Amino acid sequence: MDSNSKGLGDLQGILSKLDYLNDGTQHSLGIDAIWFSPFFKSPDYDYGYDISDYCQIDPRYGSLDDFQQLLEEAHERSIKVIVDLVVNHTSHLHPWFLESRSSRDSSKRNWYIWEDGRGKKNRPPNNWRNHFFGPAWTWDEKTEQYYLHSFLSEQPDLNWRNPEVMEAVGDVIRYWLNFGVDGFRLDVAHHYSKDQKMRNNPLFFAGWKDSTVKFFSDRTFMAGLMKLFALPTMQIGKYNQHQPETHEILKGFRNIFNQYPGTTSVGEIMGDNPELIASYYGQHSDELHMNFYFEMLHLRWKASAFRRCVDRWEKALPSGSWPAHALSNHDITRAISRYDFDNRGDDRARLLMLMLLTLRGTPFIYYGEEIAMREAKLSREDLRDPVGLKWYPLHEGRDGCRTPMQWSGDINAGFSNAKPWLPLGPDTDQYNVSVMDSDQQSILSFTKKLIWMRKEMPALLEGEYKAIGEVVSSKHCFCFERSAGKQRLLIYLNFSLQRQNVDLPGGNFAGRLLLSTNHERKSENNLSTVNLDGLEGCIIEICP
Ligand code: NOJ
Repeated sequence: MDSNSKGLGDLQGILSKLDYLNDGTQHSLGIDAIWFSPFFKSPDYDYGYDISDYCQIDPRYGSLDDFQQLLEEAHERSIKVIVDLVVNHTSHLHPWFLESRSSRDSSKRNWYIWEDGRGKKNRPPNNWRNHFFGPAWTWDEKTEQYYLHSFLSEQPDLNWRNPEVMEAVGDVIRYWLNFGVDGFRLDVAHHYSKDQKMRNNPLFFAGWKDSTVKFFSDRTFMAGLMKLFALPTMQIGKYNQHQPETHEILKGFRNIFNQYPGTTSVGEIMGDNPELIASYYGQHSDELHMNFYFEMLHLRWKASAFRRCVDRWEKALPSGSWPAHALSNHDITRAISRYDFDNRGDDRARLLMLMLLTLRGTPFIYYGEEIAMREAKLSREDLRDPVGLKWYPLHEGRDGCRTPMQWSGDINAGFSNAKPWLPLGPDTDQYNVSVMDSDQQSILSFTKKLIWMRKEMPALLEGEYKAIGEVVSSKHCFCFERSAGKQRLLIYLNFSLQRQNVDLPGGNFAGRLLLSTNHERKSENNLSTVNLDGLEGCIIEICP
């Protein structure tokens, strides 16, 4: 929400919408925490993921006073605030990097990763590629060495083997914890530490068995296809990701978090192997509190794919820990649009919301998901994201999921009086907060009901998860049980378009329908079988 007619969302704008998020009553969404993508000082080559001062708010978004006020008012509403910790890299304009690149003798030279060129042709030190395009090394004319950047050349990687870096980042973490934030999302934490010998990464097809097979089983066709096209340039991040020393860094962070009870962390740690991702919770719960498992953002619309994904992740997690689940974020096409192939997107959106809010763990709702906001189709001129700017029209980049929140049917969807920084998504007249707030049957009303219901249900908040039936029988429906103490809930999700009759597990009990994605369904008691409409999901309480 833009508060000062500049076309960009800002902290005061968010402040004005806190009541929408949680005003303590069931009229509001009822969320418990906000994760903010970075709003720190940044030249903005990558949506703020290139920070030039970790302890200042970028003036476009507001001031430290605004953030202080936001924290206070959020806390008054029992909303916790998590900020983005982007410390694999800084901006190339961060004073640390400016100092580091000033000369080979700089006191901060070793805060970043500098290497000589190879051979007579002065080639880059190894074959590592950055995630956006091209080599991960850029030649610095002045000091005649290459520096490493896992993303843009405007995002040089910090050297995590240097203890001074750990100290400086520790200070940043303490600064924000003292300021009052409740935790951090850790950007690309699997990248922190790099191979000391700087060895070449193996090419992607060297690992085809591990990767390709999985890509074409549960993953969307597009995800598989893109990988295939990119094959010749792709590599396995054997030496620039998931190095063992990263665990030590995370333990250091956790020691700091532990000094601030009630704070939390969630990692953006990517990889195909759930055991590897789970290892970042720490063998003794001494690393991250939570980690995203990104597999779920790439699944085909199949009950069995979701079931397998959740089971895999549940199995891999160390006991005593729990998952962080998300279906969308600022880097990927909105889930609703990924699955909107036959005009049944709205029904799928409800089904996904029901799944997200009933699985074990902490659910992350991406802004707008609660109003079924769609991905925007943007033209070349509208793009801001460096990925889209480079690859358009092959790849439109990530701007389509970053468009302004749709508050109302007014001009600019009520987001701003000025031209918004990105165009609006489609059908804003239909998909906006104001319209949906006054409709008891909208996805927004459904989401509110579900969130407030969840708060009252120990089985949903902290109960066990158990999938029901065999995977082979999950062709149409993904069914699972959540239980805590005496409370037992069955969640039945019909991914197919056809009606499905699903039996309740045997035993001497009857089921009571608590909630369905189908608002026309009346309450039902004494159930032994549930008849689900196509794309319907429901929660059933087992009454002994
Ligand atoms: C992951 C973030 O989610 C993405 O938006 C960003 O481009 C990269 N990290 C680099 O920071």
